[in-house]
Amino acid sequence: MSENPLRRGLAETRTVGPFAVVIFGASGDLTKRKLLPALYNLALSRTLPSGFAVVGVARREKSSEKFRAEMKEAIGSFSRRKPIDEAVWEDFERGLHYVQGPFDKAETYTALKAQLDALESERGAKNRLYYLAVPPSEFGHIVSHLREAKLIEAPGSGKAVTRVVVEKPFGHDLESARELNATIASAFDESQVFRIDHYLGKETVQNLLVFRFANSLFEPVWNREHVDHVQITVAEEIGVEGRGKFYEEIGVTKDIVENHLMQLFCLTAMEPPISLAADAVRDEKVKVLRSLRPMERSLVQENVVRGQYARGIVRGDEVCGYREEPDVSPASRIETFVAMRMFVDNWRWGGVPFYVRAGKRLARRVTEIAVQFKKVPHNLFRAPDGGVTPNVLALRIQPDEGIALRFITKEPGQHTILRDVAMDFRYGAAFGSNTPEAYERLLLDAMRGDATLFTRHDEVEEQWAFIDRVFEAWRAEASAPPPLYASGSWGPENADDLLARDGRRWRKP
Ligand code: BG6
Repeated sequence: MSENPLRRGLAETRTVGPFAVVIFGASGDLTKRKLLPALYNLALSRTLPSGFAVVGVARREKSSEKFRAEMKEAIGSFSRRKPIDEAVWEDFERGLHYVQGPFDKAETYTALKAQLDALESERGAKNRLYYLAVPPSEFGHIVSHLREAKLIEAPGSGKAVTRVVVEKPFGHDLESARELNATIASAFDESQVFRIDHYLGKETVQNLLVFRFANSLFEPVWNREHVDHVQITVAEEIGVEGRGKFYEEIGVTKDIVENHLMQLFCLTAMEPPISLAADAVRDEKVKVLRSLRPMERSLVQENVVRGQYARGIVRGDEVCGYREEPDVSPASRIETFVAMRMFVDNWRWGGVPFYVRAGKRLARRVTEIAVQFKKVPHNLFRAPDGGVTPNVLALRIQPDEGIALRFITKEPGQHTILRDVAMDFRYGAAFGSNTPEAYERLLLDAMRGDATLFTRHDEVEEQWAFIDRVFEAWRAEASAPPPLYASGSWGPENADDLLARDGRRWRKP
């Protein structure tokens, strides 16, 4: 008998029991580009147990054969490891099924139950991970039908494990986020709920915790005594990429700041957790979110800048402005860039500004956190340009993942000429570049039941509470549309003014 490739090495690496992953919204882009490639890569690295199964659920008429063929093609295009390993794929596709039906009809769940029962007896896949890759308006139907069809087991029931993963956007304001939390809580216990923010699955974001709390050198200076200010940048070169309709409702503040950027902020500013247990980490994140100075209406004008991309040149190519994108109103006031000055009113950070910015169609794709330390108290060196620039610690999340510490040195020679240099650590050079995708780590953690890298209900609500105030002010203002910035630039000029007023400037990452 030939050896089952999925069993090879399982003794050391198997980390989860047999699971059926049920993806609602299986014909969407996320399933194709991220979820199936991630599950296949977990199978390839022997992390999934034999008996593992995937059931796609969607409205579109399709056979399981067709679904398998489509998924194979998608994995061929989007997997980080190519070409497809036929032996692994063969075993993987045996557990791959499709159930067709609308999400709001009981029959869909009858068919799903029959499929899941069959997979349980054929492959032993009795634990279930429901993945809601659908718009939030569908959550209500799905969770109530799952409950009515008795497809959810309570935690601690001693029967199978049932969990649910929820994709963003998690609501569009505080009220809708609360409603979604209540809808999900009507069927699942919070310990079964995994709200995804894929930034938390990025290796370099996870490394922030390690960097801060596994080194003794930085934590003692990670505070108002030594830090002048912090800059967090999430810059993209891409525009809205055919998602004009979605962007017209969302804008960059809700698309990126409310979730990804806020998570980067939390990990940078939070206190050390008492352990790495999910709730210990999330308690600290919630605390720091609660310490954020609320953006009262009177503060928004002075502390928040928005912008919208106009035509311009990105990487040598001429690109259109936001208002010329398909499905975007020619008079749109949606922001594609936002910058803010935020303050954390607690003992560690009192008075230290956090300047954050996110935007589409900026000069280059870069996500980084830069901690700028205070100037030396007295400058001994009379260099013509002032000479002594402050130390900066830059944590590069993507691309060219790494950590750089800038400091001042003396240029060799007869004169004392000062030079700002960098001590550079690069992940690629140190560990190779084929790191797992965020979704691999997150799907596996959800199956393991580890919620550390997922957002808790109160965290999501705190994030929205902060963002909602900004929108209240913008609505009340209802005046000028966001200023335009040329595609390929670093955003509107007043984003520079936000820092210039404080005698600072944005780094050019
Ligand atoms: C998504 C946003 O959540 O994150 C997109 O909806 C954005 O607009 C994307 O492009 C950025 O993710 P990454 O992993 O490419 O930085």
